[in-house]
Amino acid sequence: MAILVTGGAGYIGSVTVDLLRERGEEVVVLDDLARGHRSALDADVPFYSGRTGDRALVGRILREHKVEACVHFAALAYVGESVNEPARYYANNVGEGLALIDTLVGGGVKRFVFSSTCATYGEPKEVPIPETHPQWPKNPYGWSKFMIERILEDFDAAQGLKFVALRYFNAAGATAKRGEHHEPETHLIPLVLDVALGRRSHISVFGSDYPTPDGTAIRDYIHVSDLGLAHVQALAHLRKGGASEFINLGTGHGHSVLELIETARSVTGRKIAARKEGRRAGDPARLVAVSEKARRVLGWEPKLGDLATILRTAWDWKLAHPDGYPD
Ligand SMILES: NC(=O)c1ccc[n+]([C@@H]2O[C@H](COP(=O)([O-])OP(=O)(O)OC[C@H]3O[C@@H](n4cnc5c(N)ncnc54)[C@H](O)[C@@H]3O)[C@@H](O)[C@H]2O)c1
Repeated sequence: MAILVTGGAGYIGSVTVDLLRERGEEVVVLDDLARGHRSALDADVPFYSGRTGDRALVGRILREHKVEACVHFAALAYVGESVNEPARYYANNVGEGLALIDTLVGGGVKRFVFSSTCATYGEPKEVPIPETHPQWPKNPYGWSKFMIERILEDFDAAQGLKFVALRYFNAAGATAKRGEHHEPETHLIPLVLDVALGRRSHISVFGSDYPTPDGTAIRDYIHVSDLGLAHVQALAHLRKGGASEFINLGTGHGHSVLELIETARSVTGRKIAARKEGRRAGDPARLVAVSEKARRVLGWEPKLGDLATILRTAWDWKLAHPDGYPD
């Protein structure tokens, strides 16, 4: 029996593919390579280049492999881009996501793990944020993930699709083989490390007047291996007949932007110039998860949650791959 991993050539997907294969799972990857890298996958991984919304292609994958479950990473994932191009985000993330779910369920696949996000909560009313927090996203990206969550609930009610929607906080770090290479890069850690490498003059700190101890925004950084492991455990939960769930994935600890830059200076031993700039619209002061449910329901425990470890692994990968993946 195989697991279909959509978006498996992307950052979190490629790490999860490795973890699944290390555990002897048969994996099939579907990715259109719009944002991913073929070289982020071992050459012997069965790979289909195409889109999640291509019903004929997904149908072919179901005929050629005995797909038991799907882990659905494939999405466009830039908040700013989604504000400027809402139609593209709704078409790709919601329209194609719905076509994928419908085709899979029609083909008898009844287990689904979904990459959701803390962006579905919008401006937090309480921090740390529990799964029961109201959801009112602040941008089309967050809404597109919110909509897939609702679609999954409806497919569960109508057709018995069992799912785990994992609401990630900030994915970070690298494994020995895989790291973060987005184009354009918008994530803080790779940008900070580019400054350490001398590839950027400075890192912009957006907002230094937040109601936080040092005035900069606080985020919950979670190592990509820990994230990947949660998907393995979510599949195990569904295989045991577990109920559909919405689960936060964060460490429960927040770090400020300045704290992160300072830790990066000490891990890399390099100078990292920082420049304070104004707040960005829609950036909350603190985003930190209540992570108790992941521990309770999945037995998940972040092992590499320490910020210095996260930065060390990202730095090691950056030094080995200063230009990222070749493709
Ligand atoms: N990186 C984070 O901190 C973070 C936080 C919360 C949620 N997420 C979610 O996790 C998932 C993975 O994030 P990532 O950082 O690895 O992103 P990524 O861009 O590296 O990976 C996404 C992959 O999906 C592929 N893809 C996109 N649309 C597709 C389509 N219609 N058909 C086929 N392939 C398609 C891209 O080519 C890419 O390889 C995304 O769904 C994202 O929204 C990420």
